[in-house]
Amino acid sequence: MSDPSTDEARGVAAPRLAFSAVVGGYGGLDVLRGVSGAVARGEVLCVIGRNGVGKSTLLKLLFGQLPCACGSVSFEGRAITQLESSQRRALGLSYCPQERPVFDELSVRDNLTLMRADRTLGVFEPLFERFPILARRLNQRAGTLSGGEKKILSFVRGLSEAQPVLLLDEPSEGVQWENIEHMAALLGEAKAAGRSFIVVEQNLAFAELIADDYLVIEQGGVALVGRRGEVGREQLLAHLHV
Ligand SMILES: Nc1ncnc2c1ncn2[C@@H]1O[C@H](COP(=O)(O)OP(=O)(O)OP(=O)(O)O)[C@@H](O)[C@H]1O
Ligand SMILES: [Mg+2]
Repeated sequence: MSDPSTDEARGVAAPRLAFSAVVGGYGGLDVLRGVSGAVARGEVLCVIGRNGVGKSTLLKLLFGQLPCACGSVSFEGRAITQLESSQRRALGLSYCPQERPVFDELSVRDNLTLMRADRTLGVFEPLFERFPILARRLNQRAGTLSGGEKKILSFVRGLSEAQPVLLLDEPSEGVQWENIEHMAALLGEAKAAGRSFIVVEQNLAFAELIADDYLVIEQGGVALVGRRGEVGREQLLAHLHV
C-alpha cells in the first residue's frame, strides 16, 4: 500500500479520481465484484466491455448514484466513497448518463442554462460553432431531439460545467462521425487544460482518438488495463467479441 505522504514527498501526485476494488449492483446482486482504476490529471480513461458487463454501473458508483457495497473511491486523494452525488458534484465531478441524458420536458436552452448561475448562453458560443444544430434548436423541447442530438446536448452541457472530472457514458452513441470528431477535439482541448474524463465507449475509433488509458471490464472484474500504445485494437476487440 503506498503512503500518500511519502508519495507527496517524492512529487507523485494523487490520481484525479481513483477507485479501488469497488463492488456494487442492484438489489443485493453485485454486478461489479472488485474493479479498480484511476484517471490522472489531464487524461482520459476509456472503459470498454460487452453489453451488460457493468460499465454504466461503474459510473453510477463513481458518481454516488449507487452505493459501493465494498471498496473505495477517492478524488485527489480524498475518500469520497460515502458522499452523496451532490457532494461529489460540489467537489468537482460531473456526469452525463447513458440513459435519459437530458431533461425531456425542458427546452434545449433550459437544459443548457439550468445549472448555470448566470442562466446565459455566452459560454456555449464556441461549442455552438462545433454543433450548430443546438443553436438552431434552442427553443425545441429536448425530448423531441433525436437520440444522437440528445447525446450532443448532454455532452455540451457536461463539458460546459468545466469541472475537474467528467464521467461520460457512451457520449458517441447515435452521433454521426463528423460530430464524434468534434467531441474528440473538444476533449483534447479540455485535457490540455488539465481536465480529466472517464469515458465509457463502444466506438473503438472514438476511443482510440481520446484514450490515455484503457480499462476493460468482463464478468464483474477487470479483464485488461493498459496505456494507449500498449493496448492494441485486436486486444480490445478480442474482449468485446463473444
Ligand atoms: N436498475 C437496475 N436494476 C436491476 N438490474 C440492473 C439495473 N441496471 C442495470 N442492471 C443490470 O446490471 C447489469 C449491468 O448493467 P450496466 O447498465 O451497468 O451494463 P453496461 O455495461 O453499461 O451495458 P451497455 O453496454 O448495454 O450499456 C446488467 O445485467 C443489467 O441488466
Ligand atoms: Mg451502459
